[in-house]
Order: sequence, then C-alpha cells, then structure tokens
Amino acid sequence: MKIGIIAGSQRPDSQSLKVAKCLETRVPALESGVELYTLDLGTGTVPLWDPSFFSADPSPSKEAWAPVSKELASLDGIVVVTPEWHGMVPPALKNFLLLCTSELAHKPGMIVSVSAAMGGSYPMVELRTTGYKNNRICWTPDHVIIRNVGGVMNGGDPAPEEQDIVKRCDYSLKLLLEYAKALRGVRESGAVDLQTYPFGM
Ligand SMILES: Cc1cc2nc3c(=O)[nH]c(=O)nc-3n(C[C@H](O)[C@H](O)[C@H](O)COP(=O)(O)O)c2cc1C
Repeated sequence: MKIGIIAGSQRPDSQSLKVAKCLETRVPALESGVELYTLDLGTGTVPLWDPSFFSADPSPSKEAWAPVSKELASLDGIVVVTPEWHGMVPPALKNFLLLCTSELAHKPGMIVSVSAAMGGSYPMVELRTTGYKNNRICWTPDHVIIRNVGGVMNGGDPAPEEQDIVKRCDYSLKLLLEYAKALRGVRESGAVDLQTYPFGM
C-alpha cells in the first residue's frame, strides 16, 4: 500500500506543508507497512501545463512531469492538503489536477482544507465540484477542514482543540486506507476503459 500526500500550496514552507508533514507521521500508527510519498507544490518542481501535453513530441515540461507521474501511478490513494486562497484552491493545485490524466484514476482522494482564519469550505467544495472529471480521482466523503491552522500541529503538547482535529484526521485517514484497498478491485475489474473514455462528461 502506498499513499501520496500533496501539499497544495505554492508557497515554500506553507501551512499546508506543515499539515502534510503532520499527516505523514499519523499514517504508520494507523496501518503498518504503508509507504508514503509527499509532493510539495511549493518547490516549483511540477511544470505548468503547456500545449506539449496534448502532443506526442517530447518537451522540457513533459520531462519534468514524468518522474512525478511515475510516483503518482504507483499510489493506492492520495491526501490533498489545500489552503483557501481567495476562496479557491491555489493555481498550482489546479495545474497539478490538470496534469494528472490516468495516474490517479479510480483511486481515493482525501481532502484536507486549511485556513488561517475560519475559511476552508470553498476549496473543499471546489475540488468536489471540478477537481475530478478527467483525472477520475474519487474524493472520499470524510474531508477535514483545519481552521486557524497557524495554532495547530506546531509540535509540543496539543491543546484539546488540536487533539480533536488530529483524531478527526486519523479517522478520515483510516477510511482512506480502506477505500484504497476497496478501489483496487475496481481498477482490476476490467471495467475501467480510459482508452475509449479518456474524458468524463
Ligand atoms: C493569496 C492568498 C489568499 C488567501 N485567501 C484566503 C481566503 O480566502 N480565506 C482564508 O481563510 N484564508 C486565506 N488566505 C490565508 C491562508 O488561509 C493562509 O495563508 C494559510 O496559512 C494557508 O495557506 P498556506 O498553506 O499557503 O500557508 C489566503 C492566503 C493567500 C496567500
């Protein structure tokens, strides 16, 4: 079992990355032997989509995407940590979702939305509404919204509110791991046909 954690902020050392790193530490306690892959969209390693992705010719952007694509294809599920930026997910995360074609198809995705204040609902809704059509990520029902993110997951003794949010993360992660096992059956069933139907309706 291999789970990917995407830190969806394009700022280096973001709060989203802090949360992603905290989630990394939670997974081994929930199930042993789970391999982890963390991708920080704040490092600038993921190229911006350009028309070469619609062509058969090689290009520098395709070359930069290839190793990330390979890692994603090896995953059984992902956690996407997104900040709320002007009520939206950041452009780097939309770009990432645009670059994903079959790598994450019919794999479960858990949404973790973070806000410096009391926001966090809009990016979750955005991902559920427009973040899956062609990449075929299956968003799991139990997302997590972390409000006032600056005050939690900073190390040290957690306050009761932080303990509650960490318990909620553990619960959603546990479900993600079960969806990851269950959706393998879907991918192996022979019912998936991305050649004939590369684009959702
Ligand atoms: C361009 C920009 C727009 C933002 N817009 C919102 C917003 O609409 N709602 C909100 O709750 N926080 C907003 N924030 C604050 C983020 O919630 C905050 O930066 C938090 O640390 C998570 O983002 P990060 O992962 O990039 O650090 C915004 C931050 C930036 C940089």
